[in-house]
Amino acid sequence: MITEKSLFAKHVDEGLSSTKKHLSSMYFYDTKGELLFRKIMNLQEYYLTDCEMEILRTHGNEIASSLQNEYVDIIELGAGDGIKTKELLKHFDFNTINYRPIDISEQAIRDITSKMKEWLPGLNVNGICGDYFQMISSLKSSNKKLILFLGSNLGNMNDNQASNFIEHLDKVMNVGDSIFIGLDLIKAKEIVLPAYNDDRGITAAFNLNLLERMNRELNANFIIDQFQHYATYTEKEGIAKSYIKSKVNQTVYIKALEQNYSFSENELIHTEVSRKYDLDIIRKIIENTSLKLTHQFTDNKQYFTNLVLKKS
Ligand SMILES: C[S@@+](CC[C@H](N)C(=O)[O-])C[C@H]1O[C@@H](n2cnc3c(N)ncnc32)[C@H](O)[C@@H]1O
Repeated sequence: MITEKSLFAKHVDEGLSSTKKHLSSMYFYDTKGELLFRKIMNLQEYYLTDCEMEILRTHGNEIASSLQNEYVDIIELGAGDGIKTKELLKHFDFNTINYRPIDISEQAIRDITSKMKEWLPGLNVNGICGDYFQMISSLKSSNKKLILFLGSNLGNMNDNQASNFIEHLDKVMNVGDSIFIGLDLIKAKEIVLPAYNDDRGITAAFNLNLLERMNRELNANFIIDQFQHYATYTEKEGIAKSYIKSKVNQTVYIKALEQNYSFSENELIHTEVSRKYDLDIIRKIIENTSLKLTHQFTDNKQYFTNLVLKKS
């Protein structure tokens, strides 16, 4: 049987055995990573949360009325702490919605379930802990659906993966169903880069927690101080990337894999991509689907956008 831990071990082995080393950003969110991400969302540099919150606070009512006309399952992919989602859900009639947050972090699902019930009494909440890539097929049903995908989560995929993901979602949707998606827009390096490399080192700690997680869960012996966080952003392509850089030549043993992994000085482990978008990129991503862009909302500074994609 493949357990979550053995899947993590398998992905670590694949990623650290490659010529260009990589680890999936999906593994950031253990209990410690989840707490660090909440701190990131409160950082002044991490403009994404404030911009999306502004959109939901300003247009929540309009967005909700553009999205609902009958009983609907509201499925949120990678729900996180739900603080922004609350701003949208409060505009719905709770008798006609079933809120189904999905998150890979058990802590996030536990917290969002209790918090939503406290914030929005009367709301039906049915949280599920799991990997949304693996759960898409199970979402197929005759129920009317609204799929929420906030926080520019899509940006953690490259454009091919994003197209495949959206095409997969399109297949489980019925005519009239919608996706409400939040996407970060392409903008200057001076604004984007600090969001992935803040002064207080919270994003660094979040990234390096991947090494700590391997120490905790896979009995690895990474010496964290011998690695550092490294972030880049190219405005032309609109892509931010995070890496873990080895400060020295070193070898790490991972007991769960009974394997040594060597790192040379300055060698990079790619850990995250954060794609920024414009309308052309978005249109290309949805071009092979029957989804139509019906509404677009942006914040005052035009840093972030939320879109309604409706299946026709
Ligand atoms: C960048 S945070 C965004 C959280 C929230 N959507 C927001 O906008 O504030 C990403 C969230 O997605 C979850 N996540 C990441 N990869 C996932 C996956 N493959 N399946 C399910 N949840 C995932 C993480 O645990 C985390 O809560």
